[in-house]
Amino acid sequence: MRILVTGVAGYIGSHTALELLNAGHDVVGFDNLSNSSQESVRRVRALTGKPLRFEKLDLLDAPGLGRLLKEGFDAVVHFAALKAVGESVEKPELYRRNNVDGSANLLAAMTAANCRKLVFSSSCTVYGDVKKSPVDESHPRSAVNPYGGTKLAVEDLCFELARREKGWRVALLRYFNPIGAHESGRIGEDPRGLPNNLMPYVMQTAVGRRDKVRVWGDDYPTPDGTGVRDYIHVVDLALGHLAALNHLDEFDGAEAVNLGTGRGASVLEVIAAASKAVGHRIPYEIMPRRPGDSAAIWADPSLAKKKLGWTAARGLERMCADHWRWQKDNPNGYGA
Ligand code: NAD
Ligand code: WQD
Repeated sequence: MRILVTGVAGYIGSHTALELLNAGHDVVGFDNLSNSSQESVRRVRALTGKPLRFEKLDLLDAPGLGRLLKEGFDAVVHFAALKAVGESVEKPELYRRNNVDGSANLLAAMTAANCRKLVFSSSCTVYGDVKKSPVDESHPRSAVNPYGGTKLAVEDLCFELARREKGWRVALLRYFNPIGAHESGRIGEDPRGLPNNLMPYVMQTAVGRRDKVRVWGDDYPTPDGTGVRDYIHVVDLALGHLAALNHLDEFDGAEAVNLGTGRGASVLEVIAAASKAVGHRIPYEIMPRRPGDSAAIWADPSLAKKKLGWTAARGLERMCADHWRWQKDNPNGYGA
């Protein structure tokens, strides 16, 4: 297939482009590089030995999108978005414009070019404050922050479009918590500034860029009191996109599918597994709860298995080993 990847220079986009190329697809990617470096794209080319055309383009550039889509693509995999929850609370309008208006531009350009196959990066954040896990796709949706609101809004744009116009095949993939890196250690997650997410913070602590991990609360109703999440290896996630593309014809308009492992791990379990991978104890301190966090959430991934024939294969140990290889070989990310 000839596939357009938006946000291709980012963490999940670069890993997915690599798997798409290795599977023999023809890939063109674009990114505005607002949260990434083109070095990731260069490394994907080097790792695969395949051509990967890159365009510096913004989702808000509607004429540019229109021109690119008119070249003709079989499907679009849409990662490009801003994703920092805290920043979205400070700048909700920026998030709405970038993520929602940007996605609307993409859908319009796809419509005009008669390309109606889309895989969209949604998130478990659409389940809001979850009281009971595992969560399946029928769980009610709600937005607990403006970032989450943008995912709900784009899901709704896709549902509406697919209802209105025949022929759309849209996979709304709801990711749980992606961590890890490609086994080469050449591409990985490179957050700008202080990481919000647990794993980058843990690994930056391991490599000496931070003093200690701050554990947000140990008084949750979970086995060890710390928050429980469904961490998923980014390569498994990338392979989930490949599976979705291969099964898009079986989608009835727009449908949501969870991509998670179905297993939860606590913050202390993650720190212990990371310490094992790194070979020394990673220091941490228990701090008060972080506002807005839920105690525990993990996926029911059975629909992905049934519909896409996909299950996550890599466990926490492998996620930590691969994430560590990337961090140790690239202590300052792509900026080194
Ligand atoms: P990322 O920031 O590494 O990648 C997103 C890419 O999109 C970046 O390279 C950024 O420069 C680009 N981008 C942002 N706005 C753009 C615009 N207007 N035009 C063109 N490019 C633009 O993030 P990621 O972790 O790879 O996330 C990819 C997608 O998956 C996002 O949609 C994110 O919301 C979603 N998601 C991520 C997670 C996670 O924890 N990482 C979880 C669930 C869903
Ligand atoms: C995981 C656990 C924290 C950092 C976020 C977004 C969500 C989705 C995934 C995109 C929690 C604890 C964290 C730290 C800690 N992204 N923690 N110390 O909160 O599940 O979800 O990423 O769609 O929208 O909100 O992920 O990695 O921030 O936290 O103790 O320094 O680690 O309390 O229990 P979260 P996270």
